[in-house]
Amino acid sequence: MNISVFGLGKLGLCTAACFAARGHQVVGYDANPEVIRALLAHQNPVQETGLDDLLAQAWPNLTISDNPAAAVRDTEVSLIIVPTPSQPDGRFSNHAVAAVLGIIGPVLRHQKTFHVVDVVSTVMPGSSDQVFRPLLEKLSGKTCGRDFGLVYNPEFIALGSVIHNFLNPDLVLIGASDPRSGDLMRRLYQSACHDQANIAVMSLINAEITKLSLNCFITMKISFANELAALCERIPGAEADVISQALGADSRIGAKCLKGGLGFGGPCFPRDNLAFQALARDADWEVRLAPKVVRINRSIPERLVRLLRRHLSPPGRVALLGLAYKPDTPIVEESQSLMVAQQLAQSGFAIQVHDPQALEQARDVLGDLVTYCPDPQACVKGAAAVVLLTNWPLYARLDWPTLAELAGPEPILLDCWGTLRGKDLATFRYLCLGVGTGATEDLIYAPAANL
Ligand SMILES: NC(=O)c1ccc[n+]([C@@H]2O[C@H](COP(=O)([O-])OP(=O)(O)OC[C@H]3O[C@@H](n4cnc5c(N)ncnc54)[C@H](O)[C@@H]3O)[C@@H](O)[C@H]2O)c1
Repeated sequence: MNISVFGLGKLGLCTAACFAARGHQVVGYDANPEVIRALLAHQNPVQETGLDDLLAQAWPNLTISDNPAAAVRDTEVSLIIVPTPSQPDGRFSNHAVAAVLGIIGPVLRHQKTFHVVDVVSTVMPGSSDQVFRPLLEKLSGKTCGRDFGLVYNPEFIALGSVIHNFLNPDLVLIGASDPRSGDLMRRLYQSACHDQANIAVMSLINAEITKLSLNCFITMKISFANELAALCERIPGAEADVISQALGADSRIGAKCLKGGLGFGGPCFPRDNLAFQALARDADWEVRLAPKVVRINRSIPERLVRLLRRHLSPPGRVALLGLAYKPDTPIVEESQSLMVAQQLAQSGFAIQVHDPQALEQARDVLGDLVTYCPDPQACVKGAAAVVLLTNWPLYARLDWPTLAELAGPEPILLDCWGTLRGKDLATFRYLCLGVGTGATEDLIYAPAANL
């Protein structure tokens, strides 16, 4: 198929490369001339697992263009993957999507063949029918669903595993203005995805609501696990991980996203939850779960700080390992780790931080509130407490007995994910989120009596 992709950022470039590597002819356009320049020189401006290798396979079928109108003219499907930033009221801005439609619409006027306009960017429910369809019909002078198709086709991917998630989806969600467009998109995804993916084709409005609901439901699951973890911390002998693993074995519940830890962050979950709430306000309806889910999530850094303060007073030195909102990405947007850093620094602790990828991004947010360390060893040096925040595999592989020697006397190690349980932690006093103190026999290493 001939495909044009508008927006070659974190999701758009991966999408373009996936389709091109699967043999489709893809032409990509981005409004940022720096992105175009880099890609024309076959340099990859996006840091994402496996993208360099995928681009190497994709280049024979992937063209970069600085002529967006020609990109539409020469293709059957145009994918729009541009930013839709959240506004203060939680709704997403359609500004960049409308800018791209402003290019596509006039081209459709002269297009002889049926063209599908596919919005991949996350948008507010109602946008397709109330904003995009009328805009395209006005600019093209044609009828949506008869002369051209409109599709809403959001992705459910996580940064750091975008390509894997794209090629192995649980669900491909396609909202379509008409059966022909839905079928075309179904064929396109069937040709690209490894699995016999579950492809759901539905109306535009249903797809828009499904996208927000799905992410909002996941935040609810994560917050349930964290509420359970907070409860277990108050019950001697209780271990949230043991309980949530058992819960996850029930097929009505499922194991994914049911782990107590530091909660959710990043560029999708928090804002999709807020947008779901905004959708309800627009519909003059009160949703009650979604705001509580956010409140539970926001309370986790506070809970962590409280736990630490039971063992340590300011101005003790605290080493924070991991600042990205999750492993395998440099993104710190809505990262719970940064909130922990801010709250500890504001409480008077001296904070040293490390992250294998996100140090510079964190510096933009935290400024000189903390000390930035080039490696975990420098970060842990002289620390009264070490907190494992982002679950990078690198941290599990560290030589913890050596780190214990670098840290201050009788250092505390607070593990937010239970990753270091069972490891030789030498003199670290081990604490784990989601574990009641009575259960600490097997968790706490010498000198356990202090706890
Ligand atoms: N990244 C994710 O994890 C993820 C996951 C699901 C959904 N999404 C959604 O996908 C959309 C894009 O996200 P992203 O993370 O790829 O953003 P991004 O900021 O990484 O990339 C967006 C790209 O679009 C370009 N752009 C902006 N305006 C443009 C225009 N008018 N014409 C052409 N290009 C333009 C920008 O220069 C940039 O390169 C958003 O709506 C986001 O919510 C992203």
